Formats: sequence, C-alpha cells, structure tokens
Amino acid sequence: MTRIISPSVLSADFGHLAQDIAMLDRSEAEWIHIDVMDGVFVPNISFGFPVMPTLRKGTRKVLDTHLMIVEPERYIERFAKAGADIITIHLEASEDLHAAIAQIRKTGAKAGVSIKPKTPVSAIVPYLSELDLVLIMSVEPGFGGQSFIEGSTEKVAELRREMERCGSHAWIEIDGGITLDNAAEVYAAGCDVLVAGSTVFGSPDPEQTIHQLLNV
Ligand code: DX5
Ligand code: ZN
Repeated sequence: MTRIISPSVLSADFGHLAQDIAMLDRSEAEWIHIDVMDGVFVPNISFGFPVMPTLRKGTRKVLDTHLMIVEPERYIERFAKAGADIITIHLEASEDLHAAIAQIRKTGAKAGVSIKPKTPVSAIVPYLSELDLVLIMSVEPGFGGQSFIEGSTEKVAELRREMERCGSHAWIEIDGGITLDNAAEVYAAGCDVLVAGSTVFGSPDPEQTIHQLLNV
C-alpha cells in the first residue's frame, strides 16, 4: 500500500516560505499540499497564483493543489501553467464535473476531486474511472488546525471498497485533522496520502514528524 505525506503550506510561516519549502524539499514528504481558498466556496481566503512561482522554484516535489473555489473551471489552466502537478477541485463546486475533470487532464496535470464531510462517497462513484485522486475532507474545508471528524475513516474504507469493485487505481487522500494518533487508522482503512498542516508545521522538528507520519 502506498504511503505519501503531503504537508499543507497553509500552516507554513509565510515570512519564511522559501525556507519552509526548502525544509519540505529535504524531507521525506513526496508531495506539497497547496490550499487555495476564495472566501466564497469556503469562509476564508488563503492565497493564489503569486505564491506558485516560489513553490515551483523551491522544489521538484509534486505540487498537490487543492482548489476550494467556486467555478474552478475558470482557473484550471492557470494553475497548471503555474506548475501544479495535481489539480483537485470540489465536487460541490462544479456544475459539470465530467467536463471539469477532462479540462484538468487536458493540461497534463493529474485530476482530483474532493468531497466535503457531508457529501456521501456514493456521489463520487460515477467519476472514479476518470480520476487520478479522490480527496476525502475530514474537516469542513476553510481552516487548518481543526479536529478530525469521526466517521471520515469509514468514508475512506467505503471508498476503497468502491474502487476495488470498479478497478480504480486512483489515490485516496485525506485532509484535515491528521495527527500521529489517527494516521495509522486512516492508512489501515485504505488511505494512500495524508495531508498534514498543523501537525507538521506545529512540530518542533517538522522533518522528523513527517518521518513519523510515514512510519506509524
Ligand atoms: C482545510 C485545508 C487543509 C488544512 C489542513 O480546508 O484543506 O489542507 O490545511 O490542516 P490541518 O492538517 O491542520 O487540519
Ligand atoms: Zn487541503
């Protein structure tokens, strides 16, 4: 089973972003998670295109871009051009998800779709054959540092069963409230990729914490 850590730069120190990216580049994290928020799809605004060159220049790791924005179709090409390797949009944000997934794939980026905590796994099943990644939100999107919503592990297990049924090899990623205490249970449920913001950047030794998250 795959294990990948995708530290979220939402929890980085933006006064030292280049140093934080250099640290992630040295670390065992294979991906770097980029949370883009528009203040409309979620009640918070984070950052957008201007940070992408700093990230892209600072690392060759996979830039795992999570768009928490309405009408994501308007911005897919620009994120791809800015260096996003994976572009994940929200199922709840797109009016024509099949078309939006095709648009992502056309750019050459890997295509992901995320579901919010209250969206059932069944909603994503019709799209599985088109996807490289499914992102299960284990907190309400909008803020780092929230507590893991109980029941998210069961959604991972249900998604894993659905993917086995239809032969999908997409990654399952989980995002929100991941700690050293709950990482093992989400891996056991069939998760491949753990996003971790405050657990990594709130640690006195982020590189060691990434190592521990991979080896729980
Ligand atoms: C929340 C974001 C998350 C967030 C995770 O909307 O999508 O990626 O940064 O932060 P932690 O790991 O602190 O819950
Ligand atoms: Zn995220």
